[in-house]
Amino acid sequence: MSQPEEQSATRLKDPVPFFDLRLQTESLRDRFMEVTEALFKSSAFIGGAAVSDFEEAFAEYCSTKYCVSLHSGTAALHLALMALELEPGSEVITAPNSFIATAEGISFAGCKPVFVDADESTFNIDPDLIERAITPRTRAIIPVHLYGQPAPMDRILEIARKHNLAVIEDACQAHGAELHGRRAGSFGTMACFSFYPSKNLGAAGDGGAVVTSDEKLAERLRLLRNHGSKVKYYHDILGHNFRLDALQCAILRIKLTELNRWNNQRIEIAWYYNAKLADVPGVIVPETMDGAKHVFHLYVVRVKDRALVQQVFANHGIQSAIHYPVPIHRQPAYADLGLGEGSFPVTERMTDSIISLPIFPELTREQQDRVIYALREAAGASRV
Ligand SMILES: Cc1ncc(COP(=O)(O)O)c(C=O)c1O
Repeated sequence: MSQPEEQSATRLKDPVPFFDLRLQTESLRDRFMEVTEALFKSSAFIGGAAVSDFEEAFAEYCSTKYCVSLHSGTAALHLALMALELEPGSEVITAPNSFIATAEGISFAGCKPVFVDADESTFNIDPDLIERAITPRTRAIIPVHLYGQPAPMDRILEIARKHNLAVIEDACQAHGAELHGRRAGSFGTMACFSFYPSKNLGAAGDGGAVVTSDEKLAERLRLLRNHGSKVKYYHDILGHNFRLDALQCAILRIKLTELNRWNNQRIEIAWYYNAKLADVPGVIVPETMDGAKHVFHLYVVRVKDRALVQQVFANHGIQSAIHYPVPIHRQPAYADLGLGEGSFPVTERMTDSIISLPIFPELTREQQDRVIYALREAAGASRV
């Protein structure tokens, strides 16, 4: 019982939450109240300076020229594809091991998702498999920076250039991630972000954005999010109401100033987990690609006996999650693609063994130690 993680684990404690936003919200409460007060005073709830201020700041953060704020990451993916004006039935390559919204964006734009399996070491799309999925109908690639780790963008951009394809980054889990010093969001034709509250940069509700350095695309995205209208009640094209509220933008503007610090705290926790778990039999810790800054939206390990780990976690009051329990091609919603079991072996193998451990900036060292202790206990019990 000499290890600190063992000592802290022996005492009865509150549950270790998978995610808890309360401390973060509390720490910024006064600033949130100040902007809320000002906004209520002006009552400019839609559009205005709060929206353009955040958009400017987030575009700059991502090293892009433009940011078009939207009401969710799903809306961002949907509009990014609509903005490309692809002919119906165009094929768009993406990853099957993502949140379903990545594929939904493709489908809602009238295109067909074509999945490419993951690289077993990083869980991101395997660039070696992309070219064989390209057909004369392929128009775009949507790499997902899964769990906060950039996809291998150098290879992906090279393939896209060779085949004249657009690249839309799904950066919904990767605010502030980098590859060779370049920010996620600045690689593709466009990049999509989610500001769902639990994301590394999260709103006080739903939110999202597309960033781009292409002026024409930015203009089209602005039209599409606002009923195809530049001037009120005059509609150039058909669009949606996909705008993001001024209040969310004002809150996001404040939270953006803390993002790098929060990301560094996540990275510190991930390194601590790595150091303490790397030698545990039956546990594979996440691998970070050379040159990548992984911002650990999620810390996902592979375990030999997941049911046992979940049981031990439950006994210790430790919450965990699975991202994702069913790959997109195996979801009933995509049954019409006819992609049976075995279509994407790496994704399917990882789906059966992954488990996401608690990670968020305010997770204490004591809580981290309790997670480590429980995982070690589970590994011991499975006698691997
Ligand atoms: C990879 C990925 N893509 C898309 C989305 C969709 O974002 P939202 O929930 O804001 O619609 C999410 C968010 O959960 C995500 O993790």
